[in-house]
Amino acid sequence: MSRLVVVSNRVALPGESAAGGLAVGLQAALAARGGLWFGWSGKSVREDSGALHEQTERGIRYVTLDLSRQDVAAYYNGFSNRTLWPLLHFRLDLVDYARETRVGYRRVNALFAERLAPLLRDDDTVWIHDYHLIPLAAMLRERGIRCRIGFFLHVPMPSADIAASLPDHALLFGALYAHDLVGFQTRRDAERFRSYARLFGGATLVGEDGLRLADGRSVRVGAFPIGIDARRIASQAAAAVSKPAVRQLQASMGGRELAIGVDRLDYSKGLPERFRGFARYLERYPDDRGRMTFLQIAPVSRGEVQEYRLLRDQLEGIAGHINGTHADPEWTPLRYVNRNFAHATLTGFYRLAAIGVVTPLRDGMNLVAKEYVASQDPENPGVLLLSMFAGAAAELEGALLVNPYDLDGVADAFARAAAMPLAERRERWQSMMEPVARHDIHAWCEDFLAALRAVPRS
Ligand code: G6P
Repeated sequence: MSRLVVVSNRVALPGESAAGGLAVGLQAALAARGGLWFGWSGKSVREDSGALHEQTERGIRYVTLDLSRQDVAAYYNGFSNRTLWPLLHFRLDLVDYARETRVGYRRVNALFAERLAPLLRDDDTVWIHDYHLIPLAAMLRERGIRCRIGFFLHVPMPSADIAASLPDHALLFGALYAHDLVGFQTRRDAERFRSYARLFGGATLVGEDGLRLADGRSVRVGAFPIGIDARRIASQAAAAVSKPAVRQLQASMGGRELAIGVDRLDYSKGLPERFRGFARYLERYPDDRGRMTFLQIAPVSRGEVQEYRLLRDQLEGIAGHINGTHADPEWTPLRYVNRNFAHATLTGFYRLAAIGVVTPLRDGMNLVAKEYVASQDPENPGVLLLSMFAGAAAELEGALLVNPYDLDGVADAFARAAAMPLAERRERWQSMMEPVARHDIHAWCEDFLAALRAVPRS
């Protein structure tokens, strides 16, 4: 079997807890089949010595590189997280169009290509992940790398008009054509990429999943919704309820219902809207007052980026205002926590919670939604409130789907979830657990790699 080489900006080194869906997913995928995981060490150094760090554990060889401070500033904090991240999440109002970071992004991708190319063998299968590394395959091809290369975008693909607001967009998105297979989270993302390629790349659409380029080459395009390690999470959650942190949370509830949200502190997650939607619920359903506590866990993410700092300040203001307005001496309606928790502990929290609140303004998939489902007690499952703009909404039809901008709609959904009878909760949960268990992380990995292997090579 061909060796799998995974390339991503973020690598979850052994013993590190992974933040965000990408690292969690890749960890599980590589654990099952072994291979090489190449990416950034997460360290910024005064001057890059060119050395690679290497370690092998349980069949996975991890190879990482350090980046200089300027490179981290331009490539990671700059172009990846101040330009591409907002662009790909439909936030043109937040996009930074600076030229220097665009240049730095290409420089770091070229560095990845330079360091990775000597490690590759012709019969490897290379799988590149996410928006940090869009030009990498094209740069590897320029270095004569001929092996199969696939790409998966973990975040949404916006419409062609949004993508085209980026200067040099054809150079960036056109680099995706250097892959044999380009995968997206949902059918709609894949279709938006195909229409972009048709409108701005001169490509012709072939069948349901193909593109023919002006130079005669073909690229496969497909939807591969990422999953979770559902079985493991279900058993972890059942065991986690006896952990001290989970018991303490339960004891602190004083018999009230728990609603929970867990998100990186990111403007794509719709946290200000979510807090306000919860406040609207307290106002519009006075009989429910004091019956529920909403716990929002939001570990700080990308804290060097200005928009993320502003969001943090904003949320502190809103949370303080809501509690100031609605709390009683013995009840705090909103608990807002910035620290992170072990993944297993979170599954225990999910199991305790009668309502899981996942209301991003845009999200590629959102694995918290799936983890919340997998963590439930089948006898007494909770209700998932899910944004219609999360990729997960395409699969989780049993959720209460909400428009995260519609605060009244979110308030109504809180009330409906709080009052939902057991029979309906069970029925909805079963309809969600079935796809979560079937399309798990292993199926995702196998489906993508099978499609990549099936691409005919010229
Ligand atoms: C999202 C992205 C990932 C990223 C993760 C955490 O899930 O799709 O590529 O790794 O967020 O963000 P960070 O900037 O800490 O890697």
